[in-house]
Amino acid sequence: MPSDLEIVVAERPADDVAERLAAAARTGGHIVLTGGSTPRSAYELAAGLETDWSAVELWWGDERCVPAGDERSNYGMAKEALIDRVSVGAVHRMPGELGRDAGAELYERELGALERFDLVLLGMGRDGHIASLYPDEGTLDETERRVIGAEARLEPFVDRITLTLPMLRRANQVLFLITGADKADAVRRAFADEPSRSTPASLVRAAGGRTMAVLDAAAAALL
Ligand code: 6PG
Repeated sequence: MPSDLEIVVAERPADDVAERLAAAARTGGHIVLTGGSTPRSAYELAAGLETDWSAVELWWGDERCVPAGDERSNYGMAKEALIDRVSVGAVHRMPGELGRDAGAELYERELGALERFDLVLLGMGRDGHIASLYPDEGTLDETERRVIGAEARLEPFVDRITLTLPMLRRANQVLFLITGADKADAVRRAFADEPSRSTPASLVRAAGGRTMAVLDAAAAALL
């Protein structure tokens, strides 16, 4: 196992990540949230553990190009599960409704002078994608921009706005939350094999920081 990575196989991964999110909230700083279905319970539990997120600025790793109130919105999920239950210092939503390119441009401006995150939370698809960076796509080659648009590639089949690899790596901590047997093969490729464009999760490690993957036993089965 690469030395720059800690693997935690937890009985209850959502509880484990909720503790880490609550601790990060107490410390304060710039926290990047992920979308998808896996993190929802971790967000709910974290809100139960800590309601004072006033020292936190929330960002997103990616967003679907839908309005904030759409059920497919990553912001919408986090709002229900976390933001509406705590007091947050600042919320930097990705403007999905503007479309992938205009939305990415605006979020690039929203980032302003910010060059490093305190914590980046990531889920992973069973194909090994993270945020909206899909296997073997040109989006993986972006080195200048911090945010880009991405074409629809999987359900929900809408375009996306996503942080780029260089920006996801600029973190004091990168934290993966991945569960389920259907992801075990991608987990092996992401955390035990050589880094590869066919498994974008294998390309994200915290530059000068700590990288941890919190898994359940099913997701870790092939490690
Ligand atoms: C998104 C996510 C995406 C997600 C994976 C895993 O917008 O969908 O940011 O990268 O983390 O697709 O999704 P699940 O947790 O639903 O399996």
